[in-house]
Amino acid sequence: MFRLDGKTALVTGAGSGIGREIALLFAAQGATVAVGDIDEPAAQSVADEITGAGDAALVLRIDVTDLASVTGGVEAIVAQSGGLHILVNNAGIGMVGSLTETSPEDFARLMSVNVYGVYHCSLVAINQMLDQDPRGGTIVNIASVAGQVAVARRFAYGTTKGAVISMTQSTAMDYIDQGIRCNCICPGTVETPFVEAYLHRYHAGEVEETRAQLHARQPIGRMGRPEEIAPLALYLASDEAAYVTGAQMTIDGGLTAR
Ligand SMILES: NC(=O)c1ccc[n+]([C@@H]2O[C@H](COP(=O)([O-])OP(=O)(O)OC[C@H]3O[C@@H](n4cnc5c(N)ncnc54)[C@H](O)[C@@H]3O)[C@@H](O)[C@H]2O)c1
Repeated sequence: MFRLDGKTALVTGAGSGIGREIALLFAAQGATVAVGDIDEPAAQSVADEITGAGDAALVLRIDVTDLASVTGGVEAIVAQSGGLHILVNNAGIGMVGSLTETSPEDFARLMSVNVYGVYHCSLVAINQMLDQDPRGGTIVNIASVAGQVAVARRFAYGTTKGAVISMTQSTAMDYIDQGIRCNCICPGTVETPFVEAYLHRYHAGEVEETRAQLHARQPIGRMGRPEEIAPLALYLASDEAAYVTGAQMTIDGGLTAR
């Protein structure tokens, strides 16, 4: 079940957190994984973990905000492994702020990584998936519950993740007859370096109290873990999910059910 043998996957932002866990799991399930990240040493270290376990990985220094970087990255993947079957649009950044606390520069920065990044990678990957033989592939976007419901003072972040949900639905419908599926995962709060950075940037001096509050904010009583998100990405990328497209899959410890 859920094997990815013979498939090549690009995971963006795979040098850390959720993306790292997805890259490790996909490789363990038989995929050749292109570990894409703007932070090349981080990508290299994840690729080393994969190859150290006897699985296949490529390292890709990729900036998802830059279409030329994404195009070059996908060309390198195809040259080395012959095709691209799975794209995980995971690279993303966050910030805290209401609308009036969000500067135009902050808004543009989040849009450029979280929205343009998904657009660029999907554009290049879908063109490749349509060209290759056999045609097709699958895309998994990492959105967020912040795109589904209002999370306090996440104006820009929620905006971008709402766009990711919408891009998921459009992409799923527009390529449904061409063998391309597209789904998204909406995680609640997951304990990764992303949350660590948030704690130190916005709550320096009260990191542990705030961490405890973040755990308590989830109805289930704790934050999620990256290894609890990766198996859903694996399922969505696998042939077992052949009937699943355009879906928003929520993993949030009950947050949106409350
Ligand atoms: N951690 C959470 O609570 C949480 C919740 C919901 C959704 N998400 C989403 O999950 C995804 C992964 O989050 P994480 O918590 O693992 O984050 P993380 O900060 O641990 O990792 C993100 C990775 O993306 C890379 N990256 C940033 N900008 C990039 C760019 N321009 N090009 C290529 N790579 C870039 C970073 O170098 C980093 O390695 C993000 O899209 C995030 O919005 C996270």
